[in-house]
Amino acid sequence: MTEDRNADGLRRDWMRTSTIEDMVALVAGGGSGIGEAVAHAFAANGAKVVVADLRPDMAESVAADIRSQGGTAIAITMDVCRQADIDAALAKVDSDWGRLDMLVNCAGVITPRRLVDADLASWRKSFEVNVEGALQLARSALPMLKKSPAASVVNVASLAGGRAYPNGGSYGTSKAALIHLSQTMGVEWAEHGVRVNVISPGSVLTPLLLANMSKATQAARAERIPLHRMGAPREVADLAVFLASPMASYITAQEICCDGGLSQALMVQKWQSDN
Ligand SMILES: NC(=O)c1ccc[n+]([C@@H]2O[C@H](COP(=O)([O-])OP(=O)(O)OC[C@H]3O[C@@H](n4cnc5c(N)ncnc54)[C@H](O)[C@@H]3O)[C@@H](O)[C@H]2O)c1
Repeated sequence: MTEDRNADGLRRDWMRTSTIEDMVALVAGGGSGIGEAVAHAFAANGAKVVVADLRPDMAESVAADIRSQGGTAIAITMDVCRQADIDAALAKVDSDWGRLDMLVNCAGVITPRRLVDADLASWRKSFEVNVEGALQLARSALPMLKKSPAASVVNVASLAGGRAYPNGGSYGTSKAALIHLSQTMGVEWAEHGVRVNVISPGSVLTPLLLANMSKATQAARAERIPLHRMGAPREVADLAVFLASPMASYITAQEICCDGGLSQALMVQKWQSDN
């Protein structure tokens, strides 16, 4: 009996210090794919969610979906490349909820081209959205985040940020920059009590991937992944919730791959061929 009570007490204490309940999360790029799953995962864990996206219809649809399932969410139209949009979004969060604890940036674009063919406009677009957007959004949110007792930023980069592949030049280079940016933010903002981490997903079944990868390439890729399948958006979302939550209180300035083992696949193949 005494043991049970102690176990209950421990469980209650653990729940109290690890929960994101009633905290406020802003999910940029929350209207589709990984961001949509992240918004749902935060709401399912009791957070109030701001679904921010370039596409108002998609942001509203995700927020409405969350509300219909009993969660708390609002939709905001926001282009991470437009400072006025960022400022308006943060002002709305401040006036509605008076706090911001967690920022997850999933907004991203891919402009697949071989390096010799890549025009500067598409190259710059990758950097404008994937790098500058992440920087502007995070540092604009910093004053609100600094007031949170458990603030955290999670950026979504890509495995392509650490590995080269044909047609992936501007995307991969921008994601490499985003990884470095996130790590530097984590180191610099530790003094403000704001943790910053970056997730590098492998291949995740979202509209972005489906639009840029043929069925044949998808099958070949799945074959190379040690877990032999593409990821689901929800699997990245669960990691984002963990990293953003107080459960990850000693993790900052880190890149975490969520890729079914793909980043280690060359080693797996070599080991197989050696044996
Ligand atoms: N799907 C994958 O396999 C995969 C792999 C690695 C990394 N990623 C990264 O994950 C993130 C999410 O990708 P996804 O696959 O869910 O794509 P997606 O296209 O389904 O979702 C991206 C969302 O970002 C929004 N967006 C685009 N530009 C924006 C801007 N300027 N401001 C605000 N919102 C903007 C889009 O409207 C869309 O709702 C991206 O950063 C992508 O690079 C995806």
